[in-house]
Amino acid sequence: MGHLWQLISTLLAAVPTVAHATPEPATSGEARELFIQICYLAASVLFILGLRGLTAPDKARRGMQLAAAGMLVAVIGTFLDFRIVSFVWIILGLILGSGIGAAISIWMPMTAIPQRTAISHAFGALAATLVGISHYDYITNVLQEPIGHIEMAALGFEVMFGALTITGSLMAFGKLQELLPSAPITYEYQNEMNISLFIVAVLMFIFLIFAPSDWAIHHVVFYLMVLVGLAVGVLIVVPIGGADMPVVISLLNSYAGLASSATGFALGNNVLIIAGALDGASGFLLSVLMSKAMNRSFSNVLFGAFGGSVAAASSTSTSGLTVKSVSVEDAATQLAYARNVIIVPGYGMAVAQAQHQVRELAEQIEKRGGEVKFAIHPVAGRMPGHMNVLLAEANVPYDKLFDMDEINGEFSRADVALVIGANDVVNPAARTDPASPIYGMPILNADQAANVIVLKRSMNPGFAGIENALFYDPKCSLLFGDAKASLTKLVQEVKRA
Ligand code: TAP
Repeated sequence: MGHLWQLISTLLAAVPTVAHATPEPATSGEARELFIQICYLAASVLFILGLRGLTAPDKARRGMQLAAAGMLVAVIGTFLDFRIVSFVWIILGLILGSGIGAAISIWMPMTAIPQRTAISHAFGALAATLVGISHYDYITNVLQEPIGHIEMAALGFEVMFGALTITGSLMAFGKLQELLPSAPITYEYQNEMNISLFIVAVLMFIFLIFAPSDWAIHHVVFYLMVLVGLAVGVLIVVPIGGADMPVVISLLNSYAGLASSATGFALGNNVLIIAGALDGASGFLLSVLMSKAMNRSFSNVLFGAFGGSVAAASSTSTSGLTVKSVSVEDAATQLAYARNVIIVPGYGMAVAQAQHQVRELAEQIEKRGGEVKFAIHPVAGRMPGHMNVLLAEANVPYDKLFDMDEINGEFSRADVALVIGANDVVNPAARTDPASPIYGMPILNADQAANVIVLKRSMNPGFAGIENALFYDPKCSLLFGDAKASLTKLVQEVKRA
């Protein structure tokens, strides 16, 4: 939902920049203003209902529709703003933005959603920052009026957080797209340096609010603050490993929301204030919840340099152990005669786009009298709710999906745990190996099932880059191959069994 707010910010924030010069016409101005405010109120209510819908998988689609309707109402309201002097730039922007958005949604695979989100945040923040700079320039260069303390505070906040979100999001995009090294880039006194630079930016921000209107100095400090903000964005993200990028992205989403909210204060635009605040709060909460799901403290994510060379420190050793591979026929026989099957989907299911075959297999097992449940780990895949979205797309009933806390007690009663392209979320090292980078992360208790069948292509590790002792457990067998191909064969074999 974060990029929706970004889009709103981009569209709405662009309007007043083209419209500084035209005074309000005397006639019909009040009625028009009232209508605009009603649109903004309706849009805000729809955004809140939309967010509420996202709290449950079965209401998520409706939530997105409500939020999209809210955006439409907000855009209509904004188009009626009397200050718009020309629709040309807005229409050009709409055509260009819609074209780019459509291309992204058609061609970008779902597995690339985290980096897609990062790049959207960069553009949202760029829009907020440019609006802030243009507004500042208009007041100080065109009107040549002193800026009030509150207005300057809002503007300063907008451009400072906007600037650091632009570069921070671009760095996150680069890491996730593997254009930049995913491992943390660290050096001595790094945190101290980053904090000092941020303090410098804050001091400049305070100077801008309270400095006398000596425009020459004011301008220099203002643009310096933008540059420092851009530098801070790069420097705070490079020491964070690729594995923590989704948490960072959602935090940057929160910053972009706060920047949009500040834009709303600077421009007197209520819907921007509300949408930005919702974005800021939800992004922050999501970051905290994701950190919690990985059993990491928030500060550890931001300053702990997780996801890189730490993996090498793990003491989990599988040398000398062998894995047991299983044929499709044997795996199908186990599944066909199992009474309780728990399916653990992971990132590999998303890569293989195997969700429809997963649903078919579950139906076949149930037809034979078995019970099938799906165990959903909060960070399975590469984005929050990744597994829920895919399984919902394949029409797996919501009441068959169980959160980790609900299902973990049931693995010990399961005949088979079928792990489909999941790895880190079922890695017992999280419980047993204090040197492991995922130590302490709550995992799904797949290892407690009577039998474990794992679908994967090779012995490659998962996202954390570490060995998984579960695969070497005598009761575990591996069905090698692409998950979709393996599942297609399994469905046929279970039908025959
Ligand atoms: P991973 O640990 O990343 O493991 C994915 C597994 O899928 C790998 O073992 C891979 O092995 C297999 N695979 C890939 N493509 C496949 C295909 N086409 N067919 C069959 N198997 C395939 O996944 P997970 O268990 O879902 O864990 C998620 C990881 O991402 C965690 O470390 C988590 O902390 C991290 N993370 C997630 C999030 C969110 S919000 N979800 C956020 C930050 C970090 P092969 O290559 O051998 O096939």
